[in-house]
This record gives sequence, structure tokens and C-alpha cells, in this order.
Amino acid sequence: MKIDTILSKYEPKSENLIQILHDIQDHTEGNYLKEEDLEKVADYLKIPKSRVNGVVEFYSMFSKKPRGKYVIRLCKSPPCFVKGAFNMLDELKSQLEIDVNETTKDGLFTIETTSCLGVCDEAPVMSINNKIYGKLDSAKIKKIIENYRKGKSEI
Ligand code: FES
Repeated sequence: MKIDTILSKYEPKSENLIQILHDIQDHTEGNYLKEEDLEKVADYLKIPKSRVNGVVEFYSMFSKKPRGKYVIRLCKSPPCFVKGAFNMLDELKSQLEIDVNETTKDGLFTIETTSCLGVCDEAPVMSINNKIYGKLDSAKIKKIIENYRKGKSEI
């Protein structure tokens, strides 16, 4: 989707900034925000580019670097940590043969870590794009990854 098409869906008000950034990122191949698009957003909302950049840098779900089609974000906050999040991170790294903040060669997966995703009673938790997966264990992670590789996001 073209950036102008995305912008036209929103009123040019600064409170729409985060929503617009999500929309652009979701519709950009490589799942990221390009400098030229951030400039257009700033012009459209009539706010300084530094403010747009500040928001992009503040929220870890935004990226200015290309990422995989599926961005896996594993929660590393204390409730998930005590329930074995770090073992789950090792599981993801070995399944995908990449490290944190890297993307698989096929361009499918990027691993990131994040703070609390808001569903601590499901710990350990990860999200893939906008979908949450809780009560993770090695077998569940394996199954989830397999399904995404086959183009299915459900488990
Ligand atoms: S601490 Fe992991 S979801 Fe809240």
C-alpha cells in the first residue's frame, strides 16, 4: 500500500501518529519504517521530524531497519523471566539459527526481546507480529514456528 493511501485514511492530527506508524510499518516490505516515509508523516501531521523520530525510537515495536515478515518478540520482564523466558529464547535462537535482532536468511523471522506484553498470567509469553502466544514450552515453540513456515499463523 502506498504511503499516500495510508495517510489519507487518517485525519492529519498528531494524536494519530502511533496508529499511522503502525499502519505504515505493517504495509512496508521488511516490516520497518523508512526515513522518507517518516518525513512524509511529519509533513502530513505538521509536526517536526524529530518528534516522529522520538516516538519511533521510544517504542521498541517500531524499527528503522528491515526485519523479517514475522517479528517474534519474546517478553523478558520478571514474571516471564522466572517462568523460563531465557530458555525459550535459547529455543528460538536454535530453531531459527539466528541471534536476537537478527533475521533468518529466508527473510521470514526476526527475533527481538521486549518488556511486558500485558499477559503475565500466560508466562512465558511472546508475540509474533500482533498475535500473542503464552504458556510457551519448547514443543509449543517448535510447532508455532513450523506453522508459520507453512504460512499458517494458528497453532
Ligand atoms: S511479564 Fe511477560 S507478559 Fe508480562
